[in-house]
Amino acid sequence: MHDNRVLILDFGSQFTQLIARRVREAGVYSEIHPCNVDPERVKAFKPSALILSGGPSSVLEGGCPALNMDYLDMGVPVLGICYGMQLMAHNMGGRVVASTDREYGRAQFSVQNDCVLFEGIEEKDNLTVWMSHGDRVEALPDGFLPMGRTDSIEFAAMGDAARRFYALQFHPEVAHTTEGALIIQNFLFKVAGLKPTWSMASFVDTCIADLKKQVGDAKVVLGLSGGIDSTVAAVLLHRAIGKNLHCIFVDNGLLRMGEKDEVVGFLAEHFELNVKFVDASREFLDKLVGVTDPEQKRKIIGYTFIDVFDREAKAIPGVRFLGQGTLYPDVIESESFKGPSAVIKSHHNVGGLPEKMNLKLVEPLRELFKDEVRRAAYELGLPEHIIWRQPFPGPGLSIRIIGEVTDERLGILRLADRIVQNEMVASDWYRKVWQGFAVLLPLKTVGVMGDDRTYENVIALRMVDSIDAMTADWSRLPSELLARISNRIINEVKGVNRVVLDISSKPPSTIEWE
Ligand code: XMP
Repeated sequence: MHDNRVLILDFGSQFTQLIARRVREAGVYSEIHPCNVDPERVKAFKPSALILSGGPSSVLEGGCPALNMDYLDMGVPVLGICYGMQLMAHNMGGRVVASTDREYGRAQFSVQNDCVLFEGIEEKDNLTVWMSHGDRVEALPDGFLPMGRTDSIEFAAMGDAARRFYALQFHPEVAHTTEGALIIQNFLFKVAGLKPTWSMASFVDTCIADLKKQVGDAKVVLGLSGGIDSTVAAVLLHRAIGKNLHCIFVDNGLLRMGEKDEVVGFLAEHFELNVKFVDASREFLDKLVGVTDPEQKRKIIGYTFIDVFDREAKAIPGVRFLGQGTLYPDVIESESFKGPSAVIKSHHNVGGLPEKMNLKLVEPLRELFKDEVRRAAYELGLPEHIIWRQPFPGPGLSIRIIGEVTDERLGILRLADRIVQNEMVASDWYRKVWQGFAVLLPLKTVGVMGDDRTYENVIALRMVDSIDAMTADWSRLPSELLARISNRIINEVKGVNRVVLDISSKPPSTIEWE
């Protein structure tokens, strides 16, 4: 499928995903595999180059993750980073020693021996690089030359031009290494002679061709949520198999105002997706009566979704595949060599589905990072209002209504939330924040309206900035915007007389309130 392919062996560094990102940004397809991957899979992947990631271990300690030396005999160029460098040195006859102190942070690096990795860099004697390591290489293996040093490390880079083996003690993949992207590009293009053939357009084409091959003329069922991942997965599958894709959209009664029409109705109409709308709202809401515990709510909604989806899917004859919008970070997490403890997000709403339904999985986005999904969406011609939709949780408004979910409380929150969404879009802040929404609190406070005393509900505003939802900070929105949102909610939403702002970061808080 891809000619220019880089295999990244993961030795446990927190930066491994960044290496893959940088390689793909350079236009070269890359995949991360755990360092103890079955060698047959490495062979089958046919890498054109290999990158060994960093990692928290020390080659001087027993039981540290090992490098299968057969990989160095494949005749492909190798770049070792940090622990990857120490592994190369240790296994090829060099010497690694423990530093007295762990070196962490910026360092000034100077290039030696005209190393090709640093071509095109102006400040060859004063390059800022990012270090994070305990051990260091003290003697180079045979065939290697020193390629750069810092004040504290004599061999901060080494290389063997004949075998095209290079290694760096620092991390070129992190932004603090100022020329890091160029160093990685030099490895890909100048050392390995690769071509930048990975682009979203080529991904979309090959993905559709692969889906045709995988699915043939079988039927696929897919749960459309309105989120970008399931939407892009559906559009790709639709391009591949047309009407044999059966999408199911379950209205669980916990959606925002307009949710169904904005995305799913739009897709059915403009992209001619085959969508079955299932109104299961009463089934969900009846099960939530009297439930206030957040985990209980999530469980009830998860199980009910699986029941409804299973029932509806079985009503379509001849379905053999279940389509899902699984992304690459989920795949890596579940395959990580750190073992099953690091597994799949608890947020996965449809976790139990594949087992229950006995269907084969088809996951068109398994190779993509989140922002690449957005680029694929552009390629597929999806409109901006779908591409830039903020994430919305599977359990919907239920986890934004603290306490019991009732029709009345849903009504209040929907109106307040609509105002928040409208004002964010109108002020151009919608795309700048990661998520912005309203939360209905389980308490009433006193207010005054005209001459009357009121005793009504409180709405909290939750607006956060984030890159991946793992961490988040509260968004510093202009006070005029906050004032407008607050005034409109109190004036327009009957039953609310107070609006408060959540100014907590994640961690220790979470983005959602439940
Ligand atoms: P938290 O609240 O854990 O949320 O900081 C992180 C991100 O995940 C979303 N979220 C969910 N998404 N099903 C989902 O599909 C869920 O059960 C769920 N819970 C939280 C949340 O909106 C935020 O983007």
